[in-house]
Amino acid sequence: MAMIPELNKKPGVCYAYTDSGLELPVIDITHPAFHQEVSEEQLFAGAKRFAAEQAAKGPFARWLQGKLLPLFLKRSVIGRGLLRSREGYLDGLSTYLMKLGPGNLGSGWANAMDRNLVLGMNRAGMSLAQRLQDMAETLAAGLRPLLKEGTRPLHWINIAGGPSMDSLNALILLYKETPALFAGRPVQVHVLDLESEGAHFAAAALAALQGEGGPLHGLGATLNILAYDWSDPQPLTALLQALPANALVALSSEGGLFDYGDNAAVAANLKALHSASPADCVLAASLSRPVDADSPFQRQGIAKVLQRSLADLEALAPGWSIRGSLSRPINFVVGLRKTA
Ligand SMILES: C[S@@+](CC[C@H](N)C(=O)[O-])C[C@H]1O[C@@H](n2cnc3c(N)ncnc32)[C@H](O)[C@@H]1O
Repeated sequence: MAMIPELNKKPGVCYAYTDSGLELPVIDITHPAFHQEVSEEQLFAGAKRFAAEQAAKGPFARWLQGKLLPLFLKRSVIGRGLLRSREGYLDGLSTYLMKLGPGNLGSGWANAMDRNLVLGMNRAGMSLAQRLQDMAETLAAGLRPLLKEGTRPLHWINIAGGPSMDSLNALILLYKETPALFAGRPVQVHVLDLESEGAHFAAAALAALQGEGGPLHGLGATLNILAYDWSDPQPLTALLQALPANALVALSSEGGLFDYGDNAAVAANLKALHSASPADCVLAASLSRPVDADSPFQRQGIAKVLQRSLADLEALAPGWSIRGSLSRPINFVVGLRKTA
């Protein structure tokens, strides 16, 4: 395996290797290289501009674009990930690369096509970096008051977590804010995923973040990888039942269960989470929101996401209530709590 180190390291950023030998920056949303400062108005204005540009192209130009796009995509690392996602879902590491932002894509592997793809998505209001930040902030907001009570062990459970940056960044937000709340508190991140490469990167990233000078230095958190297929939630139930009785639990799935899982899988996983988790557990989810059939976002979609409104989610989630939601051009990020 050829190792591709990052030659232009940025001060204050941690780095970790993927299984395939790419050295990548570890996203820390409190660092200016990754923090998103785009307002909701700007995101929707970008989406509107993109829709207008696409509409102005006319049917032939759009048809040609559809034919040519795969040829261009083949030429870049991120593009090849997008092409693979036509089979179903975008893999965890390709998703991660799209969150890095054009300025953080390493010169050892990324080309202009990679950078333009990410730039284009961000400008069109489809930023995955924004989705990550929304997820981390939603998780942190739910946990903040609970951390003030004692030193209950903190367990993060990330379904289809891949690199699990939502859990790790919520942890960074909370730890940097008040490190004293973590003194004597065991912390463990559980990554549940069908594939292992993204989860391995999560483990390498957590180690880097806890290294000397990293934002989680001194925390002592551990990471547990569990092979998981959301079509059978039994291992999830077993994991929850094995946690300490006083555990504080933060559940999440970003770009995972709620974006790709069918209704039966979503309902079964929510039921398992509900029946085996503590009453005060915190849940954050991203959903792909419904867009019109003739929307350019519909045509651009490569991975087979299932679109859901907040009402669709509520119908699948008896015993859960939506406590807050962020509305973005192509997705929602939702915080949920148990009602009973
Ligand atoms: C778009 S990626 C999202 C990864 C990560 N949560 C993020 O937002 O960066 C989709 C993830 O879903 C996982 N996945 C797909 N089908 C799954 C299934 N049936 N059960 C569990 N995980 C699955 C993939 O392996 C991948 O890590």
